[in-house]
Amino acid sequence: MTFSALWESLLPVGRDGGTGGYRRFSWTPADAACRSWFFDAAAERGLRATSDRNGNLWAWWDAPDGAAVTEPDPGSAAGEGAPAGLLGARAIVAGSHLDSVPDGGAYDGPLGVVSAFAAIDLLRERGCRPARPVAVAVFTEEEGARFGVACLGSRLLAGLIDPAAARALTDRDGVTLADAMTAAGHDPAAIGPDQALLASIAAYVELHVEQGRALAGLGAAVGLAVGIWPHGRWRLAFTGRADHAGTTRLADRHDPMLPAAAAVLAARDAAAGHEALATVSKLIPEPGGVNGISSRVTAWLDARAPDEPRLHALVGQVLAVARAAATAHGVDLDTRQESVTAAVDFDAPLRDRLARTLAARGIDAPVLATGAGHDAGVLAARVPAAMLFVRNPTGVSHSPAENAELADCHAGVAALAAALEDLACR
Ligand code: GLV
Ligand code: MN
Ligand code: MN
Repeated sequence: MTFSALWESLLPVGRDGGTGGYRRFSWTPADAACRSWFFDAAAERGLRATSDRNGNLWAWWDAPDGAAVTEPDPGSAAGEGAPAGLLGARAIVAGSHLDSVPDGGAYDGPLGVVSAFAAIDLLRERGCRPARPVAVAVFTEEEGARFGVACLGSRLLAGLIDPAAARALTDRDGVTLADAMTAAGHDPAAIGPDQALLASIAAYVELHVEQGRALAGLGAAVGLAVGIWPHGRWRLAFTGRADHAGTTRLADRHDPMLPAAAAVLAARDAAAGHEALATVSKLIPEPGGVNGISSRVTAWLDARAPDEPRLHALVGQVLAVARAAATAHGVDLDTRQESVTAAVDFDAPLRDRLARTLAARGIDAPVLATGAGHDAGVLAARVPAAMLFVRNPTGVSHSPAENAELADCHAGVAALAAALEDLACR
């Protein structure tokens, strides 16, 4: 099994020595190191590696008969039980992302990429000859940790975000995506939907560490995704007046931290009331002196719910509380929706096919829903998509403590290899 060597080679990249967490933000030196790791892994395997116009990475295992990924064959369906749209010589793609949240764990994203390479190695060991191209994909800025929009690379590919709006996104230092891409040697003028690339994909299968404890409770090493909760991010900018903490009478203050605090508490209440999840974790007070009232506080609300009516009711409730508190404290409030992903139901025929394939190999893969966002959820709007989850013993994720047992990682590789073999190798 090549998994361990490949996994170990990626582990040091972008890891903070102090916290042990990952800081792999898009278009930074850590991101460049992840990209070179990917190109090296592809080269070691003789896979043709490319970066697409949006900076997503692809490593192609071309079909030996020369079926080209750029020549989609609208011919007959792949066979009985094939998912709708699984046609001719279109490619089967497996992958995930390599970027991280601030101090993220090792598995969220990289597990899917390393497992995809390892699954190809396993298929080659078994002598599998693909009847259609197989690719490993890495999507850029999945976490939205630098530019605020989750799944930015897959959204651009799928035409689900305006390229001009994307170029103008800024990081916390005011650097635009366009400037960050240019500095990293990638042309931002080229970003946008890529119909030819999308049309060349028959199916996308993303393996991901589970971000919860459902599989641990069920005693299963791998699972299949049924769907993703609708979710999104909202930015709340409270503008008050900077003043002296030791002399300004309470009645004279315009303190933006107070309505921000009300919004934090309202998020928790609204989530509980709607059987949903809502979090305010990122909060930037400016200038942020201990002995001064801030002039401005920016807060980000992350909200997720089992359905869209509950998501929008939850967000409406938080924003209403924030507005009322801002008015009460003489503070201005500007709100902006940064990204929203609708509810995702993964392609049922593809999921059923994967379930049958795994069951035939004795792999019992329970079907789970998740509140976590994924590129597979974005791409599901354009191509049949599916997800495999690998057990996470504690359920902890977006943390350096995120973990998966090596045996479960191997089970994930075996399941992904079975899926790729079924979809591409016959
Ligand atoms: C991705 O990890 C998300 O925030 O759901
Ligand atoms: Mn994540
Ligand atoms: Mn992820």
